[in-house]
Amino acid sequence: MKRAMKKRGSLFSFEGIDGCGKTTQINGIREDLLALGYRVELFREPGGTCLGEELRRIVLLNNGIPICERAEVLLYVASRTQLVHEKVFPLLEKGVIVLLDRYADSSVAYQGFGRLLPVEEIIGLNDFAIEKRYPGKTFFIDISVEEAEKRLSSKEKDRLEGEKEEFFHRVRHGYLTLAERYPGRFVILDGQQDPELLRKRILQAVLAEIDSPEKKDQ
Ligand SMILES: Nc1ncnc2c1ncn2[C@@H]1O[C@H](COP(=O)(O)OP(=O)(O)OP(=O)(O)O)[C@@H](O)[C@H]1O
Ligand SMILES: [Mg+2]
Repeated sequence: MKRAMKKRGSLFSFEGIDGCGKTTQINGIREDLLALGYRVELFREPGGTCLGEELRRIVLLNNGIPICERAEVLLYVASRTQLVHEKVFPLLEKGVIVLLDRYADSSVAYQGFGRLLPVEEIIGLNDFAIEKRYPGKTFFIDISVEEAEKRLSSKEKDRLEGEKEEFFHRVRHGYLTLAERYPGRFVILDGQQDPELLRKRILQAVLAEIDSPEKKDQ
């Protein structure tokens, strides 16, 4: 009873294929929430802790270390579990709003759907790593693979971005499948809209979720 009455922070994740606008939006929302007087923390995945940043370096750099597909999943999941236990859960207990630039769904979309590894098993690994504490809302910013390609063509590609087009079609389909499976958690946004419009919509959904007393698991 005491626990139920305690003020709890809210968790939000931003998802979508590379170049969809996650970082642009999450930075904007962070500013908006700070301006409204909320306490906000933002983390990117993989990373956000000493262990996580080391793992990010290993997993995203094209530095020639062979990493098999299942090891890749476990490295992302290891970074995630360290992040939630070291940072996210304690912050939520203090009533802070936590914004995540990628979270559990990225593993399912990229490694499950993208790499064709067993989706349910990856969901099981996530459940273990994050103790089934899913975000109040997950903002899936949806753009076409062609649009992503245009936006990122000038940027140096990391390990995953170097994957071929078919991979990203599968990842996008993965996100859409997850959005259908968890309709209460997922908010699908058209990533080709004006960034300022997107920002307003996301802020509205964040504020509505913060005001709602009910917290969902999925
Ligand atoms: N709504 C939008 N319309 C057009 N261009 C956008 C929009 N949002 C972001 N961009 C541009 O697209 C590019 C990628 O944006 P951003 O870095 O925010 O994406 P991301 O999802 O964080 O990518 P990554 O997965 O590579 O980190 C940037 O050049 C950004 O300015
Ligand atoms: Mg980004």
